[in-house]
Formats: sequence, structure tokens, C-alpha cells
Amino acid sequence: MSTTIMVRAEHAAGERRVSATPDSVKKLTAAGATVLVASGAGAGALLTDAMYEAAGARIVAPDEPHAADVYFHVRPLEPAEVAALPRGAVTIGTADPFTHPESVAAARDRGVTMLALDLLPRISRAQSMDVLSSQSFVAGYRLVTMAADAFGRMFPMSMTAAGTLAPTRVLVLGAGVAGLQAIATAKRLGAVVSANDVRAASADEVRSVGGTFIDLDLETADASGGYAKALGEDRARRQQELLTPHLVASDIVITTAAVPGRAAPRLVTAQMLAGMRPGSVLVDLAAESGGNVEGSVPGERRAVEVAGGTATLIGARNIHSDLPVDASKLLGMNYANFLVPLLTDGTLALDFSDELVAGCALTHDGAVTQARIAELLEGAAR
Ligand code: NAI
Repeated sequence: MSTTIMVRAEHAAGERRVSATPDSVKKLTAAGATVLVASGAGAGALLTDAMYEAAGARIVAPDEPHAADVYFHVRPLEPAEVAALPRGAVTIGTADPFTHPESVAAARDRGVTMLALDLLPRISRAQSMDVLSSQSFVAGYRLVTMAADAFGRMFPMSMTAAGTLAPTRVLVLGAGVAGLQAIATAKRLGAVVSANDVRAASADEVRSVGGTFIDLDLETADASGGYAKALGEDRARRQQELLTPHLVASDIVITTAAVPGRAAPRLVTAQMLAGMRPGSVLVDLAAESGGNVEGSVPGERRAVEVAGGTATLIGARNIHSDLPVDASKLLGMNYANFLVPLLTDGTLALDFSDELVAGCALTHDGAVTQARIAELLEGAAR
């Protein structure tokens, strides 16, 4: 029997992305699945019901429960939404389980299989399904355009008849997917870009996109799966000290540092900011998870004190939704690329011996299947 996929309309304030596009619907239906799309689900990304219908989807009323086997979502589901799903349903999307453990508990209690694409192992086979990468790619670009918008100067060095303009100096802290894309984007606009990260591979990665790597001569901090590990207190303080002269020499600072499952590392303190020039701009991608920059508030643009004036500090909030068309295009393909190989003649058969399925499954058959999140839930229940 053909597996039915329900594509919901996201209802979180400011969310304009959608988990399927007409292109991804074509891919899913070609693999034999049936796709239901909530009316208006693609509106934020300029995708009309008629476009989805032409691609083979059936449009359904947005606010009613619809019987389906698989439920696609962009934002983590609320516990009440999970509890309203049919028993045995499968959810696919970003679950952010350490921030939303109560939704995982609801999936366990409802017998729902919750697959978190944000937990997919970062292996080559998963690259085309990697929602963290696709959305970080979009975010990295957007961070630079936000900074450019708030900055009173142009980026490239320019020699004009009226005089020469100095290039803008951009510092990127945290050079994962978002940071690397920020470096590449700032370079394309003509800035002089330098960057720092704590992973051993990052020096080469920064250079490969045209940035200058700032080597602080600190021990690298690699964890498993290509991620960074948290620095101890002394090392974190030393990193701040060593970064200060680079910060002070920069016009724009873009921070993207993260350690999975933890609050964002604090890279820039208010004291460090004090030495920056008036008119400088800082954009903090990590504002929603604690902030790389002291004082950053998600979704706010604030003036902060620096030597002789103020700088602008911008806390990012769901900035993928600022570019909903491309963010959704990539997301839609991520979801389809994940699901299609799991369909046989249009029917979903989950194989828990597959490292991708096992890696992203949070719940199945009434149990929590990830040790760390199971421990978290047990701790909360005690
Ligand atoms: P992330 O969003 O978890 O973190 C962003 C960056 O912050 C990372 O580069 C991390 O090293 C850095 N960071 C953490 N603490 C820091 C500190 N104190 N100071 C400076 N920087 C700090 O990372 P993201 O973008 O998700 O990438 C994580 C890793 O996964 C990378 O090694 C990346 O190359 C790898 N990756 C692999 C993929 C694949 O093969 N499928 C796909 C995407 C990423």
C-alpha cells in the first residue's frame, strides 16, 4: 500500500519555510508515495497550492487532522501535536530533542516513531539529506547580508576618482558550515576575511574558501562525528584573550560557534567589545542558544558601547526564514532524499539496522531509542 505523507503548514511565528516543494513532491510521488499538502503550506516560500497539485500532491484543509503514515515538519512538534497523531505514525523533521524532550516523551507515549533529521550521522551518504548543513549554508550567507545592511561602509577596497576606500575587515568565529559560507560570501563581496575555529581540520577548510585562518596556538578540540567539544574554563578564557586583538582590528564580526547538545560557547565578552571601533557590527548566529557574544538577544538589533561610541550587535533568530524560497528548496530535497531510499514500491519499511535510521530515530514502538535523550527523560521523571 502506498505510504501517505502529510506536509503541514508551519504555524510558528515568523516561520516561512515548508518541508516539501513541488520538486520534492515529484520525487516522492515518482517513488510511489502519496503526498497531502496543507492548503497554503508553501505560501511563505512563494509556492502555491496549484503548483503542488501540478506536481502530483493532493491539497487538504490546513487545520484538520489528516490520516497519514508519515508527517513532515520543519519546526519541532509540540507535545500536543504529537499526541494527536495516529498511533504508529512516523514523524520526519528537525526535533531539537535536547530543547524539546517533552515532545520526544509524547512520541514515546503515543507509539509514534520520531525521526530527527538533525541527528543524522554526518557521513557522506547522508550529505544530501543533511538539514543542518543546508540550513547552515543559507544562514551563513544571510549573516553577511545582515551585517552589510547594518554597516555604514562598502566591503571592497575601491579606487575611485574621488579617493580610495579601504576594504572592510570581517572576522568569522566558528567555521562550520555556516561560518565557511559566511567567509565565502564576505570574500565575494570584497571584504578581507579572517576566521578561527577549534577543530583541527578547520584551518584548511577556512583557507579553501578564501579566508585567512587565525591560529591561536591552542590545542585543538575535536569530538566524534566531526564536531567540536566544549573547552574547559581556562582554555575558553585563553581563547577570549587571544581573540581580543583580532576582534579590535575588525569592522564586522560574525559568530557561528556551536557544540552539539550544549549552550553556545561564549567567545566575545562585553569587555572585549569595548575595544572595537564605533560603527562596527557583530552578528551572532548562536543568539538563540545562549549567544557567542555577551548581550546578544535573538531577533534584536542593539547598540552596544565601544571605545568612543557604539557598535551594532545583532542576535539572529530563525534567519533561514529570511530566505524561505531557497531554504525550503534545499529542505524539501533533504526530506525526499532521506525518505525515497526507505520506500519499496511506495511503501515505507524502516530498517533499524541502517545507521541513518538508527542514528536519527528518537522513539519507536513506545520506547526512546537514543541513550542520551532517554537518560535526560529519566532524569526529569525522577
Ligand atoms: P556546528 O554548527 O556544530 O558548530 C559550528 C562551528 O563552531 C564548528 O566548526 C565548531 O568546530 C565551532 N566551534 C565550537 N566551539 C568553538 C569555539 N570555542 N571557538 C571557535 N569555534 C568553535 O558545526 P557544523 O557546521 O554543523 O559542522 C560540524 C562538523 O560536521 C564540521 O566538521 C563539518 O565539516 C562536518 N560536516 C560533515 C558533513 C558530512 O560529511 N555529511 C556535513 C556537514 C558538516
